[in-house]
Amino acid sequence: MDVESFYNLISSEYTEMLERLVPRYREMLWMILDYVPKDLNPKRIVDLGCGTGNLSEGIVNQYPEADILAVDLSASILSEVKQRLKDYSNIKYLNEDFNTLEFETDSIDLIVSSIALHHLTDPQKEKLLTKIYSWLSPKGVLIFGDQFAGSTKARYQQHMENWKLSSEGKNVPKSEWKLWMNHQDNHDFHTSVENYFNWCRRIGFKNSDVVWRYYLWTVFIAHKNISI
Ligand SMILES: C[S@@+](CC[C@H](N)C(=O)[O-])C[C@H]1O[C@@H](n2cnc3c(N)ncnc32)[C@H](O)[C@@H]1O
Repeated sequence: MDVESFYNLISSEYTEMLERLVPRYREMLWMILDYVPKDLNPKRIVDLGCGTGNLSEGIVNQYPEADILAVDLSASILSEVKQRLKDYSNIKYLNEDFNTLEFETDSIDLIVSSIALHHLTDPQKEKLLTKIYSWLSPKGVLIFGDQFAGSTKARYQQHMENWKLSSEGKNVPKSEWKLWMNHQDNHDFHTSVENYFNWCRRIGFKNSDVVWRYYLWTVFIAHKNISI
C-alpha cells in the first residue's frame, strides 16, 4: 500500500492512533510552536504534511492574522482537516506531493511540519530543503518535528526498542503496531540529525539546531539568514 492510500485508509482514526503510538506527541507539537522566534510575526505560513491538522490547529490559533496553507498528499485526510478547521477562514488547503511543490522565492515566513518529512528519501529531503531555503523570506524559519535515526545504527536500534517497549506499556494493540511498522519498513526513511545539519550548512541556512528530542522524535529548526 502506498503512502497516499495508507493515510486515506486510516484518516478517520488517525489522531487517536498517533496519540497512542507516538510518545509525547503533544509535547513535540507544543515545542514546534514554542520555538518559532517570538519576533518573527509570520504573515505567510505553510504546514507540510498537515494530516488531520493537529499542528495546523496550533498554528492557526497562534497566528490568527496569518495566511496559512496546509499541504498534504492524502485527499481523504485533507477532507478531515477541512471539516475540523472549518471555522478558520485564514487557512487554505493544497492536495500535493512535497516533491512537486513550488512557491515563489522569498514568499513564506514560516514553514512547519510534524512527522511528515521522513516519507521522503534523503536525496528528496535535500532537494526539498533547497527549495524551502529559496521559498523562505529573509527572516524566514523552518521548524519541524519528525522521526530521525540515531547517529549510529546501534543508537537507532536502541530508539526503536525503547519505542516498542513504551508502546507495549501503553497497551497499543499488536495489530496496530504491526500495521505501523509495516508502513514504516516500506515507506519511511529515517535519517540522522547530522545529515540535516550538513544539508542545511551546504544549502546556506545560517543557523540550524535541535531544540527537543525523545527517542526518534526530534524538533529541528533552521534559520535562513539569522545566526542566533
Ligand atoms: C504521520 S502524518 C503527520 C500528520 C500531522 N502533521 C500530524 O502531526 O498529525 C504524515 C502526513 O504526511 C503526508 N505525506 C506523506 N508523504 C507526503 C508527500 N510526499 N507529500 C505530501 N504529503 C505527504 C501524509 O499523507 C500524512 O498526512
